[in-house]
Amino acid sequence: SAEDSMVVIVLGASGDLAFKKTYPALFGLYKNSFLPPNTDIVGYARSHIELDEFRKRISSRIKVNNEKEQQQLKEFLAKCTYVSGSYDDAKSFKKLNDAVDDIQKRVGGYRHRVFYMALPPSVFIPASKGLREHVYTRKGNNRLIVEKPFGKDTESSKELGHALAQHWLEDEIYRIDHYLGKEMVKNLMILRFANVFFGAVWNRQYIHNVQITFKEPIGTQGRGGYFDEFGIIRDIMQNHLLQILSIVAMEKPVTLDAEDVRNEKVKVLRAIQPLTVDDVLLGQYTGSPDGKEPGYLEDKGVPKDSVTPTFAAAVFYIKSERWDGVPFILKCGKALDQQKTEIRVQFQDVAGNIYPNIARNELVVRVQPEEAVYMKFMNKKPGLSSAAVTSELDLSYAKRYQDVKIPDAYESLILDVLKGDKANFVRDDELDAAWKIFTPLLHQIEREKIKPEQYAFGSRGPAGLNAFVEKHGYRRDAGYQWTPPKI
Ligand code: BG6
Repeated sequence: SAEDSMVVIVLGASGDLAFKKTYPALFGLYKNSFLPPNTDIVGYARSHIELDEFRKRISSRIKVNNEKEQQQLKEFLAKCTYVSGSYDDAKSFKKLNDAVDDIQKRVGGYRHRVFYMALPPSVFIPASKGLREHVYTRKGNNRLIVEKPFGKDTESSKELGHALAQHWLEDEIYRIDHYLGKEMVKNLMILRFANVFFGAVWNRQYIHNVQITFKEPIGTQGRGGYFDEFGIIRDIMQNHLLQILSIVAMEKPVTLDAEDVRNEKVKVLRAIQPLTVDDVLLGQYTGSPDGKEPGYLEDKGVPKDSVTPTFAAAVFYIKSERWDGVPFILKCGKALDQQKTEIRVQFQDVAGNIYPNIARNELVVRVQPEEAVYMKFMNKKPGLSSAAVTSELDLSYAKRYQDVKIPDAYESLILDVLKGDKANFVRDDELDAAWKIFTPLLHQIEREKIKPEQYAFGSRGPAGLNAFVEKHGYRRDAGYQWTPPKI
């Protein structure tokens, strides 16, 4: 009812994630009238910061485009307050609870609370316990948003899960994988299940292979100390890319209900065999040829003999009636030639082909940047020639949806939390199934110190990459390049 209130409590409010993502996303929701009435935001962290200073820091990361937004930002900042305290001390949490109670006393209805844990793993468990014991409300619902890392392997993830489960119900926990909030990832189910012509060919009979690629043009940029403990497989592949894979490959859920959707996703993951070293290509970047960009081993915090991969390609097979024998090639890397995330579905060769030089059809879902869905297909070369040439049916968002601003993934996910929709969050059994695929390989890499192939900062990746994807069945169409349309 109009009397209900909601407080979003941001833990780790003075950290990077909160300023870069959480607060801007909350402002985006406020700006577009998606925050329910009587919503307030309380930041919590260890450092003592004056409220004015805190608000200044929030607004320094938020872009406003006009006077109206400037006014909205003022209103938004008025909703943001700050409490400092530690993560393992009852008194601090009681103080936080008093502050939240004070805010929620103003109106009479249900008093909902969302706890956003933008916290390092070391304080994760004590904080979740402190919140449950001292800041939990009986007068409304409680939702706990948690961020990766969810452990480092099957065992540590289980431990973390058990510790969390001592205080919180699975039903209250929202595990964020921000790729699930991206517009194009959310589009996948509609493409597959609301279109006869995609649905009909979505199987091993028509699809030859699937590639899911993540590229980033930046290195670890001083985060090397953190990154070195995890590596690219844990940072990107085990979560973001595997989530995309499971949606590309899942069966149609019975309904759009979160548990129906997640039941289907987890089935895909359980049908994948654990990876072995023969299934992967690992890389680590060196400095750029012009000497301007440092190599990974030069990042402070990275041990000089580190074998942590900053690039990985791996092939997965799903033992199911739909996908048996179809390679799913996942690739991800830092310090590459460009920023790009895409899903590339390559179809089978034309049976009984009568034309020379034809390329395989491909459906490409361009996740970012320049969101697009395009289909590469053969077309008669226009004019007097009768050659078949590759062309494309191109749905580029910048052209087709000119007035739409695509929201940041965090906006979309926080909105889901406010609505209580868990379909785009990771369930505990999903997490466990994902770790099982990677754990033996990760342990072997670490035990045997398997050396990654070097690649230069700004290159396409290790020299062996083309051979790797071709070995697993991808056929390159040498002459063709898609360029996003100019507006
Ligand atoms: C994060 C990784 O999960 O995703 C980062 O920890 C990476 O290393 C980032 O840079 C990429 O996200 P996006 O939304 O910029 O593609």
